[in-house]
Amino acid sequence: MKKLCLLGLFVSLASHSVLADNLPAPMENKDAFISNLMKQMTLEEKIGQLRLISIGPEMPREMIRKEIAAGNIGGTFNSITRDENRPMQDAAMRSRLKIPMFFAYDVIHGHRTIFPIPLALASSWDMDAIYHSGRIAAKEAAADSIDITFAPMVDISRDPRWGRTSEGFGEDTYLVSRIAGVMVKAFQGTGANAADSIMASVKHFALYGAVEGGRDYNTVDMSPLKMHQDYLPPYRAAIDAGAGGVMVALNSINGVPATANTWLMNDLLRKEWGFKGLAVSDHGAIFELIKHGVAKDGREAAKLAIKAGIDMSMNDSLYGKELPGLLKAGEIEQSDIDNAVREVLAAKYDMGLFKDPYLRIGKAEDDPADVYADSRMHRADARDVARRSLVLLENRNQTLPLKKTAKIALVGPLAKAPIDMMGSWAAAGRPALSVTLFDGMTRALGGESKLIYARGANITGDKKVLDYLNFLNFDAPEVVDDPRPAQVLIDEAVKAAKSADVVVAAVGESRGMSHESSSRTELNIPASQRELIKALKATGKPLVLVLMNGRPLSLLEEKQQADAILETWFSGTEGGNAIADVLFGDYNPSGKLPITFPRSVGQIPTYYNHLSIGRPFTPGKPGNYTSQYFDDTTGPLYPFGYGLSYTEFSLSDMALSSTTLNKTGKLDASVTLENTGKRDGETVVQLYIQDVTGSIIRPVKELKNFRKVMLKAGEKKVIHFTITEDDLKFFNAQLKYAAEPGKFNVQIGLDSQDVKQQSFELL
Ligand code: BGC
Repeated sequence: MKKLCLLGLFVSLASHSVLADNLPAPMENKDAFISNLMKQMTLEEKIGQLRLISIGPEMPREMIRKEIAAGNIGGTFNSITRDENRPMQDAAMRSRLKIPMFFAYDVIHGHRTIFPIPLALASSWDMDAIYHSGRIAAKEAAADSIDITFAPMVDISRDPRWGRTSEGFGEDTYLVSRIAGVMVKAFQGTGANAADSIMASVKHFALYGAVEGGRDYNTVDMSPLKMHQDYLPPYRAAIDAGAGGVMVALNSINGVPATANTWLMNDLLRKEWGFKGLAVSDHGAIFELIKHGVAKDGREAAKLAIKAGIDMSMNDSLYGKELPGLLKAGEIEQSDIDNAVREVLAAKYDMGLFKDPYLRIGKAEDDPADVYADSRMHRADARDVARRSLVLLENRNQTLPLKKTAKIALVGPLAKAPIDMMGSWAAAGRPALSVTLFDGMTRALGGESKLIYARGANITGDKKVLDYLNFLNFDAPEVVDDPRPAQVLIDEAVKAAKSADVVVAAVGESRGMSHESSSRTELNIPASQRELIKALKATGKPLVLVLMNGRPLSLLEEKQQADAILETWFSGTEGGNAIADVLFGDYNPSGKLPITFPRSVGQIPTYYNHLSIGRPFTPGKPGNYTSQYFDDTTGPLYPFGYGLSYTEFSLSDMALSSTTLNKTGKLDASVTLENTGKRDGETVVQLYIQDVTGSIIRPVKELKNFRKVMLKAGEKKVIHFTITEDDLKFFNAQLKYAAEPGKFNVQIGLDSQDVKQQSFELL
């Protein structure tokens, strides 16, 4: 009761702004409210607001609360329950000006219920499903007192060696931009100030996905044209959708670290794009300016960052330590600090925290007894989204779907891997709550009787790799190793295979292999598992590979060996059930690749929308002096947009409503889609456009629209796309965004390669 009264007092104080001496500024006028508040703040209190700390086991809680009460901390991340965050907010309410704290977390693909990794979400090409996953993540996180997430991560990635490929939405500017907007709207719901919403902070600004050689944290060197055309639009889309925050990338851009980059943070983000929100550094990034070699010490690093417009410093103490001295010495202006403080306070205002600091923390008596209670989870939703994200890569002789009456050998190190189901950045997800493939298939079969399990192989036989993957796991190793000799594991699996009608092998990467700082030089399935696949193939039994991985893999051999391949990425809490739904045909797969699968690592980059060149390789006309690698087949293993179904789809009668388009006009591109198979199913009709001749070289094609369509067996539908001048615009040599008259090819297909084409002219 006492607590309640106090809470009421805080809220009523806050709602008139908590300013003792001056007349309260009305809460409704955000600018006046913040200006008024800032007038009351000491320099220390201002600098305190710029400090974002990570809550870890090494941080004594009492000390943190003291610091908060002294006004020295603006927000935290990594504390994720109401009862953890309430005492910190109480401490903020004891501070002189009672400025509320915010609580942040990496809510990337779910919170407690884990949805498929972002690359998998993108594979669904299903904007409703993606929205739904983000909305649930926001609701779960907000119910746990989280105010803001460091997501969506919209870094275009065209180099699958980069481990964070798993965390983004793939290689394509248009698709990633669409999803960026959807995710921001999903997180923020009716507004970042709603009790069931969290603020989105898009990351990593900018170009992080283009690190040289796919090696994490490496440099980025990129032409302004390529930036504007290919890499920047997804961040812009997130900001246009209202993202309240931006997380700044760890990499440098053309010689200047993003964290010290005034062009990026000021000229582009704030002036050109009109961003008015919060810019947060990445973890320790201000300090890293010294390592980058652009600051000689912490003082200079803090100066560069504040001058560039980095509002909050994530987990390094440099702002607190250096800003007062820099100000005193006249090396920075009061306005540099004030601008940053204003943005932090504005973000808190936008999150609804001044009106109610306990908006998402709620009352102690309402705290859930069990934060992981089943009633708080969203299992059915996670299963539905996961099914939509699986991509069928091969299905010879209709090996899939499996009959529930068949005797099935389930083998592979990922068949019973609850941690790996969740993928990396699994927020507050709990491995014990994951449905593994073994669990999912067992349930689908109504018991274990038809399933013969054998591990078959370890994730890796390379001790060095294993140690690397387990390096950061203090409590228990994340990648568990079966100590028996590799041959014993294989023999056991072969025995299981021989006694079965069909073999399902769950193989690929452990989740830590596709994560921050997990770059690879090879893209194949680790050797220990390849040996297993070889032995399984030799049994002559039909072989289904269920892949779990966070990046495109090179699967040349496996494509030959397997009768069916299902790409399941890391499919989340309900992954095992979702995969079983597809394996047994209870759901007809509909996913399409959001990223190209190369034949080998040497082909990278292999993105589909590359620029036209003077000597392109022409299929069917091999020979010297064309652009190719002479020692392998040219082209990807699986193209962007590719994915099979248990039914067959055909496209016919592609037509354009006119052969010309006026600048203000519209063109209709249509095609007849027919489900010619025996099952109902969904597919994605994709529209690509090629600008044949431009003032600068244009890509061979670019995705410009798509539609996910459900058709009953035998059903036909005419699919229409509208094309306007906007779809034809690009950044020219002067970085002006405009369309140029001339010929355009329009292509419609069910992947990026196998397309129907018609042309028109823009007048
Ligand atoms: C990552 C960010 C993440 C942050 C906080 C950093 O290492 O690069 O993406 O938001 O840690 O967890």
